[in-house]
Amino acid sequence: MLKKANEFLWKIFVFIFEMILLPLPFFQKVWWKFWYNWLSKDKDREKDFLFMNYGHHEIDAVEEKKREESYLKKKRSFFTTDNSAMARLYFYLCEEFPSSFEGKNIVEVGSGRGGGARFISENYPLRSFIGLDLSSKSIEFCNDVHENAPHLSFKKGDAENLPLPNASVDIVLNVESSHCYPHFEKFIEEVTRVLKKGGHFIFADFRPPEKTHELEELFLKKGLKLVSKNDITKNVLMALDYDSDQRVSFIKRFTPKFMFPVMKIFSGVKGTLIYKKFQDKDLCYFYYVLSKDS
Ligand SMILES: C[S@@+](CC[C@H](N)C(=O)[O-])C[C@H]1O[C@@H](n2cnc3c(N)ncnc32)[C@H](O)[C@@H]1O
Repeated sequence: MLKKANEFLWKIFVFIFEMILLPLPFFQKVWWKFWYNWLSKDKDREKDFLFMNYGHHEIDAVEEKKREESYLKKKRSFFTTDNSAMARLYFYLCEEFPSSFEGKNIVEVGSGRGGGARFISENYPLRSFIGLDLSSKSIEFCNDVHENAPHLSFKKGDAENLPLPNASVDIVLNVESSHCYPHFEKFIEEVTRVLKKGGHFIFADFRPPEKTHELEELFLKKGLKLVSKNDITKNVLMALDYDSDQRVSFIKRFTPKFMFPVMKIFSGVKGTLIYKKFQDKDLCYFYYVLSKDS
């Protein structure tokens, strides 16, 4: 009875949050900062919790086997297999990237707990990798946990005001973070400002499908040319199918009991709101590669 009442109250909270509060730009930024600081409030806990995305899984069995072999050859010793679908989202983005990382300066905006930054900087021959995040607690966590990773550093920074000089970056990476930005257009202006001519923007996130046209027009208007585009919603759903039990057991370990329902929603557990939105195509997960006009 109590459990049902708690679930019901959280559903009301999520509804008010999505419909009334989240559309307010000021609230949006304050909320996400609070939320991600809360998730990383204690830097000594849960050091194997390094990713915060919905993951990726190959649908085709042959492709899966091929990818599996190449994935297993990568250095992954710093995180447990619990993270694998989420790490594999990064793996997929890198493997599908049509250019090379060799000798490149890469910046990830919204690097979270640094698992993706660590995975890429340890496995690809880049020159430097900077992870930026709005959450100072996540940056503290990353500076501690990823201290000895090669070519890798972390810095606090807002996507809408990047703490980087003009034309200083070869690749900007952005994974499942941009839906938190109240002024997405400002972020895209910042991406074009910091990218060198001919540099790349690797972008992965979810949106309602009817918003993609708007998104692509904005990229073009700001001088970003489309290199490739993939709808990976089915792969994300498959990853959530595989991962849901692990996600639930992690939530049970990590959060107070009364928050289980809302944590399940945010982490996309099978059968909950965001999972259903992916299933019904109310939300689609995209992977874009764009380049700055040279
Ligand atoms: C869902 S997590 C994804 C983290 C990471 N990319 C991953 O896949 O594990 C979203 C991240 O975006 C960050 N974020 C939200 N708003 C931001 C902003 N305005 N500037 C920079 N980072 C932001 C959050 O603090 C959080 O770490």
